[in-house]
Amino acid sequence: MTAQLIDGNALSKQLRGQVAERATALKARGVTPGLAVVLVGDNPASQVYVRNKVKACQDSGLHSVLEKYEADMSEADLLARVEALNNDPSIHGILVQLPLPAHIDAQKVIEAISPLKDVDGFHIASAGALMTGMPGFWPCTPYGCMKMLESIGYDLKGKHAVVIGRSNIVGKPMALMLLQKNATVTICHSATRDLKAQTLQADVIVAAVGKRNVLTADMVRPGAVVLDVGMNRNDEGKLCGDVDFDGVREVASHITPVPGGVGPMTITMLLVNTLEAAERAAAGA
Ligand code: GUN
Repeated sequence: MTAQLIDGNALSKQLRGQVAERATALKARGVTPGLAVVLVGDNPASQVYVRNKVKACQDSGLHSVLEKYEADMSEADLLARVEALNNDPSIHGILVQLPLPAHIDAQKVIEAISPLKDVDGFHIASAGALMTGMPGFWPCTPYGCMKMLESIGYDLKGKHAVVIGRSNIVGKPMALMLLQKNATVTICHSATRDLKAQTLQADVIVAAVGKRNVLTADMVRPGAVVLDVGMNRNDEGKLCGDVDFDGVREVASHITPVPGGVGPMTITMLLVNTLEAAERAAAGA
């Protein structure tokens, strides 16, 4: 069997079209959804990411501001900027790009963002809301993965999902989202004794480690759905994921490619969260 591709670009296009429609409707009521992106320092990868985020906002009719600061900005000054954005009615979502320079406590900055504007879903209140099934913002990458499963009409109820990776940004929230949809969830990580024994039992595998070839064809049950969150470079410098794509695609029923899979969905869900924040603000929530 050769797996069907889950096309993150195509799905993003569809979802961003819906965002643009909702943004137009909101604007007709006098509210323009706004995202503030804050970048401290000159990390080249971060510069590309923030540019892409701001451009995506513009393309979907959202207002966005990019605030760039020197790497030696003090933590106090950054906290003051976050507070100002918390109080700015034209801004509905705040994203402080990570990593931050070492002298700034990133967690402290994230906790300073109002949970009502935490469109990254990194605030401890957002994590708690996800854990308890309360309304809140979901981290964009795992949220995008859920949308990809939804797009193929996949019913997670009673399925066994194996998440490889336990980061606060992807692995842990991914597991909670899958659990919320009634999957049986296993989280694997660097200390897992026999990863293959776990993945071979999976109906759905999410690979989110940040290492090439974490998942190979011999580790996948025929017909499993495989989502690849990894973003790595191979020996030729080409972008690749955590999954041995060429091998696994011959075993899986569905697979996400890299590039063109989960990556574009992350920014798309940022737009969705920003729009949602603006709609909630407009409704007085
Ligand atoms: N750095 C890499 N990915 C992300 C992200 O999704 N959000 C933020 N704030 N920083 C990042």
